[in-house]
Amino acid sequence: MLSLWMISIACMGLGSFCAGKGGLEFPSFDGKDRVLNINKRNYKKALKKHDMLCVLYHEPLSADKGLQKQFHMTEMVLELAAQVLEDRDIGFGMVDSRKDAKVARKLGLEEEGSIYTFKEDRLIEFDGELSADTLVEFLLDLLEDPVELISNSREQRAFERMEGQTRLIGYFKGEESEHYKAFLEAAEQFQPYIKFFATFDKAVAKHLTLKMNEVDFYEPFMEEPVTIPGKPNSEAEIVDFVNTHRRPTLRKLRSEDMFETWEDDMDGIHIVAFAEEEDPDGYEFLEILKEVARDNTNNPDLSIVWIDPDDFPLLTTYWEQTFKVDLFRPQIGVVNVTDADSVWLDIASDEALPSAEALEDWIEDVLSGKINTEDDDDEAGREGDDGDEYYEEEEEDDEDVDDADDDDRD
Ligand SMILES: *[C@@H]1O[C@H](CO)[C@@H](O)[C@H](O)[C@H]1NC(C)=O
Repeated sequence: MLSLWMISIACMGLGSFCAGKGGLEFPSFDGKDRVLNINKRNYKKALKKHDMLCVLYHEPLSADKGLQKQFHMTEMVLELAAQVLEDRDIGFGMVDSRKDAKVARKLGLEEEGSIYTFKEDRLIEFDGELSADTLVEFLLDLLEDPVELISNSREQRAFERMEGQTRLIGYFKGEESEHYKAFLEAAEQFQPYIKFFATFDKAVAKHLTLKMNEVDFYEPFMEEPVTIPGKPNSEAEIVDFVNTHRRPTLRKLRSEDMFETWEDDMDGIHIVAFAEEEDPDGYEFLEILKEVARDNTNNPDLSIVWIDPDDFPLLTTYWEQTFKVDLFRPQIGVVNVTDADSVWLDIASDEALPSAEALEDWIEDVLSGKINTEDDDDEAGREGDDGDEYYEEEEEDDEDVDDADDDDRD
């Protein structure tokens, strides 16, 4: 997280002053440069030298002091990740979109401000929150095997409890099975965002009602999995199935792929539900949402983004100001992803939470366009402007860098 990073910076030079007791010592940047400037002379070597190479593709450095600081902070996220992961075989680098345009093209880098990771012959974009915690977690997940084996009933129960995750599990004869190999190849294409599991154990397979060479797809929060038709499945069949079914009816916003989720809107809007899982009201509301999602899982037009404000402390104030809602209470609303304009279901604080039926009626009105963010725009136009201000400050920093740089150059 950014906050961790700031603590780390605060610790620099103070040394023992804020070092924790043994057993709980946050890393602070040790001053050693580990992030390479990638250019045409060194990129091939960098790729060859490491199992994985993680690069930031960035705009040229701006003359503006503020933007330089922002850039430096991003660089520090990479430096801290590189330091923490020093004994793993991961290289870190930066590619300047102007100076190293050719290299960027060769590597297939497209979006300035993005972080890309090379693993074997794959290029994986990091679409999460730009913080050392999230980046390190992402890289550690990528280092693991793309398929996790479930070999006993304890692991099988743990697998069944991962209800918030999109996941697949297949039953195969063993590691040498060609169908397992196809499954493995498919898994590599979704690592680390969608988890693939396999079992070679008859009893585990029986518990999960899997037949030999069968693959089940679990949508988040659904009680029953869906079996991929036509077993045994080829790699392409599995990949196609996942791509067609990967947008769930209810999904949790996660720091590791929050931007990807947000970009996957439904014709310019998201239905967003805020609920704190650890709060009794929030928990109850979430249970109602799950019920609604289960009832409507066959509606391809419906995808609700559930946000637990506890997961995003840095964004909570911004959301409250932009959406004008109290996030200490459960909320559900429609958000226009272009201008962050929104409308929210009125949930009076002293009354019971809406029933699943009431929620379904409301969702139906949203999907039919009867409830939308545009109708009230004449009176509420000004409010949107306030929101935009915060939006720029907190969310669009990268874009600001881009814009300002363009201005400088042109
Ligand atoms: C979202 O907002 C933009 C800009 O105000 C508007 O042009 C667009 O129609 C809105 N989209 C929806 C789906 O309401």
